[in-house]
Amino acid sequence: MLDNKKVSYSGVQPSGNLTIGNYLGAIKNFSAYSDEYKCFYCVVDSHAITVRQVPAELRRRTYETLALYIACGLDPDKNTLYVQSHVPAHTELAWILNCFTMFGELSRMTQFKDKSERHADNVNAGLFTYPVLMASDILLYQTDVVPVGVDQKQHVELCRNIAARFNQLYPDTFTMPEPIISKDSMKIASLQEPTKKMSKSDENVNAVVYILDDKDTIIRKFKRAVTDSETCVRYAPEKHGINNLMTIYSCYTGKTFEEIEREFDGKGYGDFKLAVGEACADALAPVQQKFNELIADKAYLETLMKKGAEEAAYYARKTLSKVKRKLGFVQ
Ligand code: TRP
Repeated sequence: MLDNKKVSYSGVQPSGNLTIGNYLGAIKNFSAYSDEYKCFYCVVDSHAITVRQVPAELRRRTYETLALYIACGLDPDKNTLYVQSHVPAHTELAWILNCFTMFGELSRMTQFKDKSERHADNVNAGLFTYPVLMASDILLYQTDVVPVGVDQKQHVELCRNIAARFNQLYPDTFTMPEPIISKDSMKIASLQEPTKKMSKSDENVNAVVYILDDKDTIIRKFKRAVTDSETCVRYAPEKHGINNLMTIYSCYTGKTFEEIEREFDGKGYGDFKLAVGEACADALAPVQQKFNELIADKAYLETLMKKGAEEAAYYARKTLSKVKRKLGFVQ
């Protein structure tokens, strides 16, 4: 709790372009929390450098991620939007929490195992302790809920373990956060390999629809989506490609699977794919327009970054000084 409101905290990495999976699974739902919760949304640039980044691209994407948050409906007056490296308390608390996190716990993180395979030439300590920095992000703000995709559930659980361990030694330090797993996030799959999650780092560009793709690109990608050899649009557990397209269509139109089956009764996959592409492109058009306005105004974005960092730092400092006091650091 902060200022008598429950706290919601989430972060997005400024690496890679955001996909409709990120949008439908997480960002689209963020604005729903703004009234009820005190919300912090962070562009986690310090997390991004656990894999090598091109500096100019990291900088550009930091601005873009902030602009996208706002374009997707987050009101900067109602939410605290900021850049992680602008609030040094995050890395300071991360060191402290490193001393309360076990080697074995970090070794079990599936994201670490995946990433160390994908970046075998750069299995650095930051990649290993990535979840500790994430725990610091969350715990600094006495967070109650953490809306994330299902892939981050394990990290939030580790964060809870760290908080519990710390609180046991030093009572009443951290609020225990709960993950809120968006039910759609686990469902948006790759358009080319529909048994795999749609991932912004996928090398096959046809597998992924980005929030900033133009209409022709979106329609082309949906046209090429992998389906099966049947022709009728119906849900079946083994029809991963069609199920994925039905999920996406349902997210954008609000229609149930039954309604979708009825709508496309007697029509083929071609008509259906076109309809999904159009629904997606139409829903993204206002987001893209807003994004283009924002990204053209760097000075405005910088003003927001500064305001966000000051707000965040105010709360972060309180928790950090409490932690230091409890540990016995001379203040
Ligand atoms: N690790 C998250 C991801 O890759 C991003 C993240 C960093 C985050 N800090 C966070 C998410 C704190 C929620 C809360 O998606």
